[in-house]
Amino acid sequence: RVHFGPGPQAEGREVFRALDSALAAPFFVLPFPVGGGSDWEGGIFRLHVSFSRRGREAGPEARAPLSPQEPSGPPPPTQAQQKESIQAVRRSLPVFPFREELLAAIADHQVLIIEGETGSGKTTQIPQYLFEEGYTKKGMKIACTQPRRVAAMSVAARVAREMGVKLGNEVGYSIRFEDCTSERTVLRYMTDGMLLREFLSEPDLASYSVVMVDEAHERTLHTDILFGLIKDVARFRPELKVLVASATLDTARFSTFFDDAPVFRIPGRRFPVDIFYTKAPEADYLEACVVSVLQIHVTQPPGDILVFLTGQEEIEAACEMLQDRCRRLGSKIRELLVLPIYANLPSDMQARIFQPTPPGARKVVVATNIAETSLTIEGIIYVLDPGFCKQKRNKQPTSFQISSNQRAGRAGRVAAGKCFRLYTAWAYQHELEETTVPEIQRTSLGNVVLLLKSLGIHDLMHFDFLDPPPYETLLLALEQLYALGALNHLGELTTSGRKMAELPVDPMLSKMILASEKYSCSEEILTVAAMLSVNNSIFYRPKDKVVHADNARVNFFLPGGDHLVLLNVYTQWAESGYSSQWCYENFVQFRSMRRARDVREQLEGLLERVEVGLSSCQGDYIRVRKAITAGYFYHTARLTRSGYRTVKQQQTVFIHPNSSLFEEQPRWLLYHELVLTTKEFMRQVLEIESSWLLEVAPHYYKAKELEDPHSKKMPKKIGKTREELG
Ligand code: CDP
Ligand code: MG
Repeated sequence: RVHFGPGPQAEGREVFRALDSALAAPFFVLPFPVGGGSDWEGGIFRLHVSFSRRGREAGPEARAPLSPQEPSGPPPPTQAQQKESIQAVRRSLPVFPFREELLAAIADHQVLIIEGETGSGKTTQIPQYLFEEGYTKKGMKIACTQPRRVAAMSVAARVAREMGVKLGNEVGYSIRFEDCTSERTVLRYMTDGMLLREFLSEPDLASYSVVMVDEAHERTLHTDILFGLIKDVARFRPELKVLVASATLDTARFSTFFDDAPVFRIPGRRFPVDIFYTKAPEADYLEACVVSVLQIHVTQPPGDILVFLTGQEEIEAACEMLQDRCRRLGSKIRELLVLPIYANLPSDMQARIFQPTPPGARKVVVATNIAETSLTIEGIIYVLDPGFCKQKRNKQPTSFQISSNQRAGRAGRVAAGKCFRLYTAWAYQHELEETTVPEIQRTSLGNVVLLLKSLGIHDLMHFDFLDPPPYETLLLALEQLYALGALNHLGELTTSGRKMAELPVDPMLSKMILASEKYSCSEEILTVAAMLSVNNSIFYRPKDKVVHADNARVNFFLPGGDHLVLLNVYTQWAESGYSSQWCYENFVQFRSMRRARDVREQLEGLLERVEVGLSSCQGDYIRVRKAITAGYFYHTARLTRSGYRTVKQQQTVFIHPNSSLFEEQPRWLLYHELVLTTKEFMRQVLEIESSWLLEVAPHYYKAKELEDPHSKKMPKKIGKTREELG
């Protein structure tokens, strides 16, 4: 039974209103009688999250809310009307009044830093202004980079619509493994990584008249490297225009880096946002999130909700939980549209988050931090921030006040908003750093070093970095590339290294593909590579069919390990004629498989460039395993008396419980990656023989270190079985 707020006499609407105005909703108050609902009494739902109000984030000035978007009248708008309304929206964006001034500044300066709040129209409008101004005459192109794939795709689609052209014609996007551009494409939205690769084919970017490095504040590794390269190109191409766009105030750094380039500020438009913190830390933030969304839905006035989670798995779980609970509540609550958004989501699904919410309903968008600055969704009034984000290898607290503030800001775009933080005010003040550490200072650099080397940049220590990476990280990357045979002992690119740079994948993965030539199994290795690229989202496990799903997964197991399981899944799927029905029956994600097929095709198309012929191992999986080892000999672990230790660094690691080898516990294995959750888990593991390491990497391993000190008896099982883990 739900216990109501201030006093026993207060009831229904009154309590509801009182709580709403205080907003510290100490209970999950339902505006309907709860009696009889066994769902509620059975304690299935947790009923509330307590928030307390702390302060208000006010924007520079609060203007009147934008006129609400459609839908207004029943007759569908004519094409001309639609066009007019699109143009009206364009004119309403904060950047619009500055169009001429901005174009003049671009004409006057080679490099311009542009600062403006998210949603002011930087990404969608500025390239269009340049197009209208004639910067694409004589076949010249405009590049606009995005750190995220989803942003590149969705923004390009939006701009194509605004310009009334088909996506892929004048406006297109290019992201890894997916090119939606043509000869005619003059406005190119692309990931920062793709522009980096452009340097390989066109080192001076001669076909571009403007390069706009967008979302510069995100400081991704690729964006940071681009800065150095573009600064260099700009020196000997005075006619090239360089724009650096950023959503935050930290533009002085960029300006200094580009020899004191001027900063153009687009004044913001932002409404005040009330911030609420939880009174105590939340143990299960996913659960707390779901409860809070329902709490907002039931107690708060109209307005859409934006929730920040860390990744696909979590987002899908949250959406499922929300849908499930809404279903159970049925008509007791108003309609709640639950929409996910993350990088691998198919584009038709992505487009749904931008559609206006039907009257009477509420939309909740569950997003990764893509929605922090890269995407703007109209109509968001409530933001729910659990305070976590994913950084490369693991999940961690958002840890930056700057991110938290960005997230909160998303609530104040169309009207005054509210932001609910699932952490305490104390945590905000004491546990969060002020700003982000650039990715270059916390990630491995193998890829980038290989790329720079192939661009002829040898002296990496003196490359013009905005913030240089730590010396050790750079050294580690060089060492790894040397071990992989991409660099010789002088640090120069080898033939094999040149080929590795041609493939848009991690050096270890490229090495594996190159090695498939020697072991005559490129067909299989391509499949493994493609499947590894869509990693982690192959199988699904609906809550009501857990047993079936697990059985289906185990049926794919092959001796040898997870890479062969992936190969097996793909092969069977291909034999089914790439059928979606087959996926459904086997609890395999059709979407992921389709993507794997695309990736595989792209990689196959590149084989010729790296001089690898098509060949098949004809069922001799030892060859496949050896080829994988040739790429991943760096990632090996051996079973010792105290569990698994990585061979070189002697780090304690564990086989992931989802692995096909979880119970086998082979003595030697390699892993695709380490993920740190509760422990350091190895994901996608493959059983190997230590002698293979000498075969594929004699320069890296010495026979001595591969001897088994206690060769005969090993404890049968170390660690817990899957059942014991629950
Ligand atoms: O780049 P910036 O954050 O300054 O703004 P923008 O991305 O150009 O967004 C300008 C407007 O376009 C916003 O009001 C968005 O809601 C809208 N937009 C959209 O409707 N669909 C997209 N895929 C991207 C932006
Ligand atoms: Mg933008």
